[in-house]
Amino acid sequence: MKTRITELLGIQHPIIQGGMHYVGYAELAAAVSNAGGLGIITGLTQRTPSALAGEIRRCREMTDRPFGVNLTFLPAVTQPDYPGYIKAIIEGGVKVVETAGNNPQKWLAPLKEAGIKVIHKCTSVRHALKAETIGCDAVSVDGFECGGHPGEDDVPNFILLPRAAEELRIPFVASGGMADGRSLVAALALGAEGMNMGTRFIATKEAPVHENVKHALIAASELDTRLVMRPLRNTERVLTNTAVERLLGKERSLGALLKFEDIAPEVAGVYPRIMKEGEMNAGAWSCGMVAGLIRDVPTVKELIDRIMAEAESLIRRRLEGMLGA
Ligand SMILES: Cc1cc2nc3c(=O)[nH]c(=O)nc-3n(C[C@H](O)[C@H](O)[C@H](O)COP(=O)(O)O)c2cc1C
Repeated sequence: MKTRITELLGIQHPIIQGGMHYVGYAELAAAVSNAGGLGIITGLTQRTPSALAGEIRRCREMTDRPFGVNLTFLPAVTQPDYPGYIKAIIEGGVKVVETAGNNPQKWLAPLKEAGIKVIHKCTSVRHALKAETIGCDAVSVDGFECGGHPGEDDVPNFILLPRAAEELRIPFVASGGMADGRSLVAALALGAEGMNMGTRFIATKEAPVHENVKHALIAASELDTRLVMRPLRNTERVLTNTAVERLLGKERSLGALLKFEDIAPEVAGVYPRIMKEGEMNAGAWSCGMVAGLIRDVPTVKELIDRIMAEAESLIRRRLEGMLGA
């Protein structure tokens, strides 16, 4: 399948694996790139720029296909060394960066000068247009369904994607709720040039996370995610568990008085315990409603091949067939 995204990124299939904290290591990124998509290493999961440089080297040993690095700009207790991370990305010869969280304008010049393609992930048409204006090459449009940070507008992809298509000139991929060939064909029909998946890629053989995380995704239905940190205007969609219900109880009882410190035990530093140790009630971890569509743990290649075969059959048989002779 050839789209503006496959052409822009030099990849075979229009499928991107979004950055994921404590999931997006070299193993997963390389598996996605080797299967013909674009794998992405999560920059800030690497504690220092030199650790990121090492992870980029490791990924290059596992694939000779293009892969990217995610740089997330979110409220943080201590500000990460962004200039250092950008230097590691440029010196590592990475050709694609996924930015997210905040306007990446401040960091764009060095990336563009190095010939790096920048895909900005955002949750509204106005932010997508801003990304186009400041010179991003593409955007990932993240609907309300998405795992992670859906923003504060709550517009699902059935509205958000066609709205993005009406306004944008640069290509965009659909993100949030994408799982299979049906998602891809629907995303293309709504105007996207491909899709970005997060949660679905966690339930793959190569995702370097504890088996409990993969089992939790298979066990979950589309009703099992919750929105946390809404009162702090830092909304995150997570899989429910005892820590999440405790956190939501604090949000209800403290109301407008809620501060980050009140919920820090449920959100700060919990990712390693969940993703590495498999402590599924340790805290809140990002997960999309798409969990309701996840029923197995294939290899990344099996997943991507299945998506492309299903998409082709939907287009050639189901859709064309509906038009008659
Ligand atoms: C466990 C997890 C961690 C994530 N961490 C990040 C992150 O660090 N930076 C980021 O930009 N997006 C992050 N995301 C969002 C994904 O890149 C992607 O946009 C999102 O998962 C798409 O929605 P989906 O889960 O419905 O596919 C994360 C998502 C998950 C599920």
